[in-house]
Amino acid sequence: MELLLAPEDKKKIESGIREKYAKVAAGPEGLFKYPTGRAGLEALSYDPEILKTLPSSVLDSFCGVGNPFSLGPLNPGDAVLDIGSGGGLDSLVAARMVGPGGKVVGLDLSPEMVTRANENLRQTDFANVVFQEFSGEDLLFEDGSFDVVLSNGVFNLIPGKGRMLQEACRVLKPGGRLLIADQILTGTLTKSTPERIDSWFR
Ligand SMILES: C[S@@+](CC[C@H](N)C(=O)[O-])C[C@H]1O[C@@H](n2cnc3c(N)ncnc32)[C@H](O)[C@@H]1O
Repeated sequence: MELLLAPEDKKKIESGIREKYAKVAAGPEGLFKYPTGRAGLEALSYDPEILKTLPSSVLDSFCGVGNPFSLGPLNPGDAVLDIGSGGGLDSLVAARMVGPGGKVVGLDLSPEMVTRANENLRQTDFANVVFQEFSGEDLLFEDGSFDVVLSNGVFNLIPGKGRMLQEACRVLKPGGRLLIADQILTGTLTKSTPERIDSWFR
């Protein structure tokens, strides 16, 4: 069920996310309660053969919570959208899997994360990857544009979860795949809405 948020609460959440990820863009170490960077990738069993081919700065930028590729590999030639691409690790892993005949678009709300992803991209020879700054709640793509939509550690941050899911399904081709890695709450939510908003992205 969608949490009903006032427009000012939504704004507060978005500005908190932008503030946090402006810091994360400089390096995620010490800013999360779970392992990030290379330690996170190792713990989540990312393919070491693919990681070996990527610049070390992109491995260091990783702050995902799961391994979306554990849900199945991508196919050569696939068109892929990575929502909340951060420093670009999953987008570049995807680019390696889809090959030069495929394409990858990474998008992120945080301008600093997009800058970081572009710096990482410049250290590679991929010609089929772009990073853009906008929200996963409003996808500026035609219906049926992608074979795969990826998202890693982002869905939990998005106030309009229903909207993001609808948008992700809209831009998928018929038979396309949505590969989401995220964290879920298993206990009871006891805090009041204002407390939940204040602790949204901590
Ligand atoms: C935990 S990080 C994960 C980054 C990346 N997926 C990774 O695995 O390294 C969450 C990312 O989601 C981005 N984000 C948060 N809300 C977003 C939104 N509404 N639209 C797009 N990106 C968003 C943040 O700026 C941040 O880069």
